[in-house]
Amino acid sequence: MNLKEMVGLKAASYVKDGMTVGLGTGSTAYYMIEELGRRVKEEGLDIVGVPTSFASKEQAEKLGIVIKDIDEVTHVDLTIDGADEISHDFHGIKGGGAALLFEKIVAINSKAVIWIVDESKMVEKLGKFPLPVEVVPYGQEQLFHLFQTKGYNPSFRMENEDTLKKTDSGHSIIDLQLDVIEDPIALALELDQMVGVVEHGLFNSMVNTVIVGYADGPKVIDVQR
Ligand code: 5RP
Repeated sequence: MNLKEMVGLKAASYVKDGMTVGLGTGSTAYYMIEELGRRVKEEGLDIVGVPTSFASKEQAEKLGIVIKDIDEVTHVDLTIDGADEISHDFHGIKGGGAALLFEKIVAINSKAVIWIVDESKMVEKLGKFPLPVEVVPYGQEQLFHLFQTKGYNPSFRMENEDTLKKTDSGHSIIDLQLDVIEDPIALALELDQMVGVVEHGLFNSMVNTVIVGYADGPKVIDVQR
């Protein structure tokens, strides 16, 4: 079993009958959704899934998991999602799979959030992983130049050589190669205030539990705030 599968299975064991569960996106969340599908089929697990992307929705539906949109539920009990980097103080970068907007909306409406990662995602400071910024196409070149001026080393995320990557909402992604983010709270505030920025991949103080996959087994970290 690979590390992503290990943590995916472990996280799925936190899901109980009657829960409304936020279903994350990515190659680690994939295993968690597969396991929930198995439990629905084999154990009669009774849950409602709230997907964070079209891809996770399609996967969950195929597995027979009951799906609702975020606006069709009163609350989300637990969201389980992957992450691209997690710092020593448990801020995170997400959006490597371009699903950051829906992921953040589902996360902030959740009573609890679990992130599942392999050990390579645990870092001292965020920033080696390019920080995704989701932007409205109108005026995106202006934002790109602004990021260049600020020395944020922007690049448009591409679908292929000629086509920009589009999110599930039809926005573009500009990835910022920052190398080290000394103050993720200040950077989040700065990006929040930029017109044309829809959302960014800084998920500061948003996780309750991190499950990290190591070769000798999963480690569960309850985040104290
Ligand atoms: C998608 C995400 C993913 O959770 C993140 O990119 C981790 O993905 P993976 O588990 O495939 O490494 O934020 O937008």
